[in-house]
Amino acid sequence: MATTLTPKVLEAEQVVERLRALRDLQPVRYWAFYSSQLGGIVTDPALMVLPFDDHMVHRGHGVFDTAAIVDGKIYDLEAHLDRFLRSAGLSKLPLPCPREEMRAIIGRTAAASGKRDGSIRYWISAGPGSLGLPPAAGAEPGFFVMIFGGLAYPDTWYTNGLKVMTTTYPIKPPLYAVTKSTNYLPNILMQLEAQEAGLDNGVFVDEAGNVGESSNMNVAFVGEDNVLRHPRFDHILSGCTSLRLLELARGLVGRELKGVEVRDIPVAEARASREMLLIGSSIKVAPIVEWDRKPIGDGKPGPAARTLHDVLERDMREAKDRLIDIPY
Ligand SMILES: Cc1ncc(COP(=O)(O)O)c(C=O)c1O
Repeated sequence: MATTLTPKVLEAEQVVERLRALRDLQPVRYWAFYSSQLGGIVTDPALMVLPFDDHMVHRGHGVFDTAAIVDGKIYDLEAHLDRFLRSAGLSKLPLPCPREEMRAIIGRTAAASGKRDGSIRYWISAGPGSLGLPPAAGAEPGFFVMIFGGLAYPDTWYTNGLKVMTTTYPIKPPLYAVTKSTNYLPNILMQLEAQEAGLDNGVFVDEAGNVGESSNMNVAFVGEDNVLRHPRFDHILSGCTSLRLLELARGLVGRELKGVEVRDIPVAEARASREMLLIGSSIKVAPIVEWDRKPIGDGKPGPAARTLHDVLERDMREAKDRLIDIPY
């Protein structure tokens, strides 16, 4: 980053040049970006920008969600849109356009990327116009869609499993935990704390001593009794992946699993599980083998993690009622 003690006043062309230079320093896999403020789609990452005074930028007044592009189709978009609109309502964000239009814009932006596999993240912001706490009078809510390469995790997370710690940061109060807003400070601090300790991620525990969730993923457990247990969704984000996986897991009861339960899970009970799972749109299902430096089960990835991962992968490719065609 070029800094100077006597900053110059820049012309518009110089700004675009500087934005391009920034992207050269830091290559990104951002393929297409829609902005309601620009009124269209751009594919040059240097142009994927927001006005500084957008309320989402300087006050965190925005919501977002992420869905996957799998083999040229969008997986489970309706579930992600449900949560997105719920989060917007809880955040008192007016909708920039009707749901059908959002769905169409998401599809068109995905098509403009030309990619058949990747991630879609989209945001609603309160819009620009002031630096105050309430949005500016007459602020137009923004809608943004990014088609990108998605978050990548090491293969060893699946083959060897992850190591996590109970975070020292307090869990978000339920209202903020169930709202997928752009306020991820506790989640970020939790992940940094784990990294600093040489671990892969953290786990929030609530005030009653029940398991919450991880930084951007849910956690679940398989007990010695072979029952899959997931924390209740009233004080954590209702993961679209977890909700679907719980449905799919019910189909495995009587074979690979003995039962499926969604309830409060005290930490002591969770620690005595045979398997611990990390679940989310980006990671899908991965085994956690160590928590607070103690092994979960025998300290190796277990069969339920593998089975549930495979069941989900298949669903992402084959669940016709959950796959939307991209209009390439
Ligand atoms: C805090 C948090 N919990 C859980 C999840 C998992 O949700 P999903 O399965 O919809 O990716 C996410 C990801 O969006 C998250 O950010």
